[in-house]
Amino acid sequence: MLKMNVLMNTVGLIAAATLASANFANEAEQPLQVAQSTDGFNAKSTYMASCFACHSTGAAGAPKVGAGNAAVWDARLEKSMDTVVSNAINGVNTMPAKGLCFTCTDEDIRAIVEYMVVSST
Ligand code: HEC
Repeated sequence: MLKMNVLMNTVGLIAAATLASANFANEAEQPLQVAQSTDGFNAKSTYMASCFACHSTGAAGAPKVGAGNAAVWDARLEKSMDTVVSNAINGVNTMPAKGLCFTCTDEDIRAIVEYMVVSST
C-alpha cells in the first residue's frame, strides 16, 4: 500500500510538472508572437521600451497604464485625444517630448497613446 501511495504521488508530481512546463511554454511563446508580428513599428513593444518605465509605475505623476486606470485616462482625454497626443509629442511638465523615443514619428506616438488608452480599461 505504501508503495502504491509513493507511486501515485510520483505520478501526481510528474503530471503537475508537465502542466507547469506546458504553462511556461505558453508564456514563453507570447512575447515571441509579438516579436514575430513586429514588422517595422509596433506600438506595444515601443511602449514597453520607451514608456513603460514611467507609465507602469506612475513615476513623477505619469498617468498609469493598465487595467483599472480608465478613470485616469478619461480625465486626460477630456482635453481631447489630439491634445493628449500633442502633449506626448511635444512634452508636458515632466513628460519628456516623445517619451524620449527619438526614432518615433508623430504617428507612432499617436499609435502608442491609443495603445495606452485601450490597455487602461
Ligand atoms: C521619464 C518618464 C516618462 C517617460 C519615459 C514617458 N512619460 Fe509620458 N508622462 C510622464 C509624466 C510625468 C506625465 C504627466 C505629465 C503631466 O501631466 O504633468 C506623462 C504624461 C503622458 C501623457 C498624457 C498627456 C496629457 O495631455 O495628459 C501621455 C499621452 C504620455 N505621457 C505618453 C507617453 C508615451 C507615448 C511615452 C513613450 C513614447 C511616454 N509617455 C514616456 C512621464 C513619462
